[in-house]
Amino acid sequence: MSVIRFRICALMRIAVVFSLVRRLSACGVAAAALAGWLIAAAGCMAQQQLDPGIERRIDAMMAKLTLEQKIALLGGVSTWYTHPEPSIGLQSIRLSDGPAGLRSGIPAIAYPAPIALAASWDPALAQEMGSALGRDARARGVDVLLGPGVDIARAPMAGRNFEYLGEDPWLASRIAVGYIEGVQSQGVSATVKHFALNDQEYNRHNSSSDADERTLREIHLPAFEAAVKEANVGAIMDSYNLVNGTHSTQNGWLNNTVAKQEWGFKGVIMSDWDSVYDGVAAVNNGLDLEMPFLHYLSPEILLPAVASGRVSTATIDDHVRRILRLILRFQANGRPPDDSISLFSESSDRIALKVARESIVLLKNDRGILPLDPARTCTMAVIGPNASPAVMGGGGSAIVATYKSVSILEGVADFLNAAKARPGCPHTVLYDSGLPDRDEVFNATRFDRGLTQQVFASRDFTGRAQQTLRPTLAEDRIATTRTGSIRWTGRFTAPSDGVYYALVHDGRPADRHALYIDGQLLRDPAPVEAGTWYIPLPRPLRRGESVQVRFDYLPNDIEAFPGLGIINADDIVSSRARRIARSADAVLIAAGFDKNSEHEGADRTFALPPLQNELIRNIAAMNPNVILALTGGGNVDMNPWFDRVPALLQLWYPGEEGGAAVADVLFGVQNPEGKLPVSFEKRWEDNPTYRSYYPQPGTPGADCLSGDWCGSHTATAQVHYSEGIFLGYRYYASPEVNKANVQPRFPFGFGLSYTTFAFSNLRLNRATAHPDDPIEATLTIRNTGSVAGADVAQIYVSEQNPRVPRPRIELKAFQKVRLAPGESRTITLPLNRRSFAYWSERDHGWKVDAGRFTIYAGDSSASLPLQAELTLN
Ligand code: BGC
Repeated sequence: MSVIRFRICALMRIAVVFSLVRRLSACGVAAAALAGWLIAAAGCMAQQQLDPGIERRIDAMMAKLTLEQKIALLGGVSTWYTHPEPSIGLQSIRLSDGPAGLRSGIPAIAYPAPIALAASWDPALAQEMGSALGRDARARGVDVLLGPGVDIARAPMAGRNFEYLGEDPWLASRIAVGYIEGVQSQGVSATVKHFALNDQEYNRHNSSSDADERTLREIHLPAFEAAVKEANVGAIMDSYNLVNGTHSTQNGWLNNTVAKQEWGFKGVIMSDWDSVYDGVAAVNNGLDLEMPFLHYLSPEILLPAVASGRVSTATIDDHVRRILRLILRFQANGRPPDDSISLFSESSDRIALKVARESIVLLKNDRGILPLDPARTCTMAVIGPNASPAVMGGGGSAIVATYKSVSILEGVADFLNAAKARPGCPHTVLYDSGLPDRDEVFNATRFDRGLTQQVFASRDFTGRAQQTLRPTLAEDRIATTRTGSIRWTGRFTAPSDGVYYALVHDGRPADRHALYIDGQLLRDPAPVEAGTWYIPLPRPLRRGESVQVRFDYLPNDIEAFPGLGIINADDIVSSRARRIARSADAVLIAAGFDKNSEHEGADRTFALPPLQNELIRNIAAMNPNVILALTGGGNVDMNPWFDRVPALLQLWYPGEEGGAAVADVLFGVQNPEGKLPVSFEKRWEDNPTYRSYYPQPGTPGADCLSGDWCGSHTATAQVHYSEGIFLGYRYYASPEVNKANVQPRFPFGFGLSYTTFAFSNLRLNRATAHPDDPIEATLTIRNTGSVAGADVAQIYVSEQNPRVPRPRIELKAFQKVRLAPGESRTITLPLNRRSFAYWSERDHGWKVDAGRFTIYAGDSSASLPLQAELTLN
């Protein structure tokens, strides 16, 4: 069967090559570009197919449209709707975020974040979640879902890692294809985003992701390519950032050459929301649809451009055809919400639970303290800011408002309430957020001679002020004006040695503050809750040492309720949390990021949010049976507490059923089976992007590492992808580049289980082959432990004597296998030409060199016990 497919493929290649030669020679394309096309075509790509019936309908509609009407169709009419054109019976279609659940104004199911889906290593599960999302969209009358996001994780700080699928292009491609096929099976278009290299959030409109072509082709583009060529995705969303110096929305190489010409993309390339910067450049360079409004692709800009010949009518026509094609292909013209689908669907909720259960990664389990035995866990303490309310997902456009949310506290309490209790061991679940009460800190903070308060009528702290002296600042009502300002000054003397934090609270969301210590302005980290920040003081203080404090406040109303306190890090853990931790049989600490501290538009810190390291260290000292459950889109700095915490779970963002999934894993109802889709470094400095993730000091944009626009900042930050193709495990596993043999704390593909597995008997169906031959790797996995579980067989390819630098190992196939205790299964995984290929900069195409390859198999990038040899000729 596969032989026939390959022969047909070879014939198709010849036909494609001939037709390309004809098309390209007719256009007079340069010889070098022609050579590139030929090699790319030789990859036997499946072009997106056109439906002749739909094309005829588009022809008929186009014939009735004037140029003005066509241009009007190139943009949205409101945040979520495209432009209607009644004269041809065309209605608006509706778009909606996002990757982890519908954000259409009506509550919806919050699925685990896409990074969790990637951690499941299960494309079939991605398809199930995609189908559920597609149904949720249909129920809400949404025609185009704005997901999945498939940008590749470079650094753990990137604010959108949680929306993406990890560091590996093959894993990301498989999950993306499953997800898109699922969504589109429901008649809803998916949108693969953000094309391309939206790998950092700082200064996102104005930073250029600069990578060489090989790095783009091998690492950053394959998931987009698979979305187009395999999953036949309906839409692509261009990113905010520039790629190699040109904004994506006007990057002709990305949109026209690669997506539309090489990959044969026939759908719509839309902008991200407000990511068009030049209308003429955008239409000429492949952007079809400007969202959410027609600002730059407007008649005012495009009509004169057409008249002067800077934009051709053929170009406009092609964009319009694509928009009509998307609408007709998904039968989205005026389709009403499908009321036969429940807005809160039990079956979708169960899929959310399933993804959460199958994606949690058990990173550490010293002394086998997990799973907990409910019969022996009489008192369980649940502590931490992320225990309650539920932390379902990260923030920004991926946020989902839900009908249901199971917090970790609820999940654990429900589980233990339902579990059979032993006589003398009734189940008790004790809870504390771990952090001190805000008002207690404000009221306990003593300033040396009190705080001087000055309320100014001016906005800039000048002119006459009403002056008072107050002992504390504890959210008391202060009368002011919208155009006024308030300043507090005082001295704080440290009562003991230590690291100190200022606790700052804005009483109203639109108020603004600035805190100065000894004249130095301190930067706000992520808020611990709306309007509340713990800001570390610039240096530790010794007992009796004092600092000058200045707190400037710009109220936005006629009254203000600010708070200010200073607290020693050692006092940060509430005394109740310490007490219950001491008395419990086991303690679950729920910490990490949330929608306020990890979201688009800004990067997060590598360190956990303020005070969490102190919380973990303190609580871990109270009880030997501490389990830490972390929420976030990727790795964090674990050094402050790693050796003190015996068990560690990576939850990613587990969606609305997260708490139930955590309880199932804790008590062994679910054997953990998630595997890392990204390497977890020990230190940020170990990451191969360390030297290039942020612009070099002194270079443009280096002073703008947060926010969308950085105020008036206009210089473009250059982010050089200096790691090239050696990203993540490709770097750690390659001694040629990783000369100091730096190893991550937890390698890509890693995840523990409550059982053990043995891999054996790796065989290839041939020892010598042509790259076009179907190659199959067969191996056996056995569950050698005493409980049922799942492991992921991972196949990595290695070229023994490559002619160009290549990573030592590259993931090229994987399969999740569920096994009962003692059971073994033999599985066969396919490899193809692309599994062995690299992108040849010289030949401008995918290339397989004849030579010897090693095929490795195992269950992480650092645990590959099996190998087999293959010679390609
Ligand atoms: C995000 C997109 C999102 C869009 C619409 C933008 O800010 O970058 O991912 O789909 O908003 O909400």
